[in-house]
Amino acid sequence: MKGLILSGGTGSRLRPLTYTSAKQLIPVANKPILFYAIEALKEAGVEDIGIIVGETKEEVRAGVGDGSRWGVKITYIEQEAPLGLAHAVKIAEPFIEEDSFIMFLGDNLVREGVVHFARKFEENMPDSLILLSEVEEPQRFGVAELRDGKIIRLVEKPKIPPSNLALVGVYLFNKNIFKAVNNIKPSWRNELEITDAIQWLVDNGYTVEPHLVIGWWKDTGKPEDMLEANRLILETVETEIKGHVSEDSQIIGRAVVEEGARVINSTIRGPVVIGKGAVITNSYIGPFTSISEGVIITNSEIEFSIVLEDSRIEDIPARVDRSLIGKNVTVRKGDTRPKANSFVLGDNSIISIM
Ligand code: G1P
Repeated sequence: MKGLILSGGTGSRLRPLTYTSAKQLIPVANKPILFYAIEALKEAGVEDIGIIVGETKEEVRAGVGDGSRWGVKITYIEQEAPLGLAHAVKIAEPFIEEDSFIMFLGDNLVREGVVHFARKFEENMPDSLILLSEVEEPQRFGVAELRDGKIIRLVEKPKIPPSNLALVGVYLFNKNIFKAVNNIKPSWRNELEITDAIQWLVDNGYTVEPHLVIGWWKDTGKPEDMLEANRLILETVETEIKGHVSEDSQIIGRAVVEEGARVINSTIRGPVVIGKGAVITNSYIGPFTSISEGVIITNSEIEFSIVLEDSRIEDIPARVDRSLIGKNVTVRKGDTRPKANSFVLGDNSIISIM
């Protein structure tokens, strides 16, 4: 079985971070989301993996490399424009050839991994196996309508959802999916939808087996989803202190302090990860916070947040909460007159002042 990871798309809902970074490379608990997909495939015994790349191809290539780090072989497949998930499948045919494959959307995280689903697929040999998860806002996803445990209809982002069962971004297919993607027409958003391709399989008498995901699943399309995914992954970290924690600091609960990181006169209340070379001084880092490499936090308090590489948070009087802070960002208390808030913000930034 092969693997196909989709890592194209523009990440428009994660701007401004995605102006300078592929959304699949934004770290969750200090590891790019995309790496979780590679690890899940490897765990399921899949070692021949194609990655569909778009505009951000150079960055994805630089971040992932040839896959040897995970003991897998990565082949990059270029999609000239984001023409849909089924279009990505179409252009992957020369790579997949006659094999079965697991397709994994590079911005999806599935807690329980995919081993179980790969085994089910091999045992039952359907034409496709899809994963479903109960969600609160089904209109944001592809939605399945079941009768007696069988799929009767799949609709992409329906205004009036027929159920609360969303299609998770992990799909297993055999080669019949290529017939489907070659027979469907673009949707209203001018994309070849994978949901329509699976519906084509159902309509043409192929077997599509639905399976419910039991643990959590996250599609990290929006900032609040990123924070939630970060929280869920941090729930699973174990304490590991490789950096320096001064005697006047306190670590409560589970925390990872990576090499070269320094925690001075500060309180860390886990679960928290602190990346290489980060320096936390006279500060409080609260639960569900990921601090990336090289970040400086001084005289400030932060929780339930993600701070990316080399950013600085200094002398902030009120606690920073529910924040997604990009690379090289500075948030500091101003000391000039007139006393005022002063900003240099990129396009699509969001800032909430107390
Ligand atoms: C895509 C699929 C959708 C699925 C979702 C899962 O949506 O089209 O059916 O439920 O991924 O993450 P998109 O992220 O392209 O809006």
